[in-house]
Amino acid sequence: SQAGMPVTLTVNGRLETLTLDTRTTLLDALREHLHLTGTKKGCDHGQCGACTVIVDGRRINSCLTLAVMHEGAQVTTIEGLGHPQQLHAMQAAFVKHDGYQCGYCTPGQICSAVSVLKEIEAGIPSHVSGDLTARPLLSAEEIRERMSGNICRCGAYSNILEAIVEVAGSKGGAA
Ligand code: FES
Ligand code: FES
Repeated sequence: SQAGMPVTLTVNGRLETLTLDTRTTLLDALREHLHLTGTKKGCDHGQCGACTVIVDGRRINSCLTLAVMHEGAQVTTIEGLGHPQQLHAMQAAFVKHDGYQCGYCTPGQICSAVSVLKEIEAGIPSHVSGDLTARPLLSAEEIRERMSGNICRCGAYSNILEAIVEVAGSKGGAA
């Protein structure tokens, strides 16, 4: 059997030291080693966004990256954004706008959406649109493009978009 490698991560504000096989994905480290099962495994191949978490302020597909590559990183999962007694604004907006049906894609959608608004605030170009000047930054169209890596098999896209646009609007966007 393969020897483990120590990795220390700050997950939702808690310092966690794990001993992991070097091949363990960040997704499996979160779900199987830290029992943070809010982050979902959809495709396990970077195609669906269900596994989206926020690492050092940027969203990533946690199925596509090895945990040992993130020594010292700050990781935020859906469990760290809010909880039933104190929802994050994005979680509350998803509830208000029925931004989910089965809910499987929802943690990834919400982590992605929180990051999208931060990316826009920080002026980070969309990997999809490329051109930051092509349209209003907080427009529904821009947000939809930036959310295009998060697949919803239930087709809740219009409700998801409404939720994100509302939060964007509360940040001063035209929407
Ligand atoms: Fe990671 Fe689908 S589970 S992108
Ligand atoms: Fe079911 Fe999105 S709510 S996959």
